[in-house]
Amino acid sequence: MKIGILTSGGDCPGLNAVIRGAVMKGDRIYGHTFVGIRDGWRGLVQDDVFDLPRHDVRGLSKQGGTILGTSRTSPFAHGGTERVKQVMANHGMDALIAIGGEGTLTVARMLHDEGINVVGVPKTIDNDLSATDVTFGFDTAVAIATESIDRLRTTGESHHRCMVVEVMGRHVGWIALHAGLASGAHAILVPEVHVGMDQIASWMTSTHDRGRAPVVVVSEGFVPEGEGEAVSLRGLDAFGRPRLGGIGDHLALEIESRTSLETRSTTLGHLQRGGVPTAYDRVLATRFGTAAIDTVSRGEWGVMVNLVGMEIGTVNLRDATSELKLVPRHAWDEAAILFG
Ligand code: F6P
Repeated sequence: MKIGILTSGGDCPGLNAVIRGAVMKGDRIYGHTFVGIRDGWRGLVQDDVFDLPRHDVRGLSKQGGTILGTSRTSPFAHGGTERVKQVMANHGMDALIAIGGEGTLTVARMLHDEGINVVGVPKTIDNDLSATDVTFGFDTAVAIATESIDRLRTTGESHHRCMVVEVMGRHVGWIALHAGLASGAHAILVPEVHVGMDQIASWMTSTHDRGRAPVVVVSEGFVPEGEGEAVSLRGLDAFGRPRLGGIGDHLALEIESRTSLETRSTTLGHLQRGGVPTAYDRVLATRFGTAAIDTVSRGEWGVMVNLVGMEIGTVNLRDATSELKLVPRHAWDEAAILFG
């Protein structure tokens, strides 16, 4: 078979390891050939594709970013299924492997519904896909956030300051929860749980009164109790979603005015998506890549590879995109026992 591979949506450490796993096994075991599609769905509708032989993916598992490039383009705004079929036919492509998050996998599902042979691979640092226990990229993002919080804590302690650290997490607070727990934060604020400013200020004061420099970890999508929407100061992204960011600064001002503690805020932003993947993410991404090529070779279309426990399997794309994996209230409550 000739297979097209694309990466779409926000990038994520481990994308290259998926590409390497799929191409190496596809070439060695099944004798498939591959084409890379540049910048996600954009490259597919604009016929921007190139040959991707096995020697071009050597040594890629430790490389951050994606050699294919990515974008947030929807093919349905640029010719839709007919155009996709036409470009696939131009290159003799039999199937697609689409590596992406919820938006990309929804597009993959729609294309499959219209007769295109597609297999999805889940990626997102946010870890918000319900049909897989873990997505690659999450472990790397948590490691980066944890190291950053540890560093911010030492400078906070030197100056007896309160430190607010904003991490990614549009709808879900998994990065904040894990990095906050790992670094012993005094408050972890996630989109799933509304907490009032008085409660946050009280945690900061009690921490300070014990002689500690308080640390707050907050997801970009957190909304304080009684306030309307997540902070967004930079307009909309290509999918029309608000670009989030700024809750850390907002909290820092509120904390300082309520507690009189000198407070600083740091937004980690895209640092969490850059650089080399952790060993865990390289392994998971490689397993997803090789499983995706097995799935293609079986002709099992319209599914996404997933991880359940220790096992890699597949799940229908419709089920894979039907709901987000939120932080359950009991997981936050468990962490909150240690706040303040
Ligand atoms: O990949 C998801 C995510 O990390 C969200 O947490 C965040 O809102 C978004 O990406 C930001 O992506 P970009 O700035 O690349 O549009």
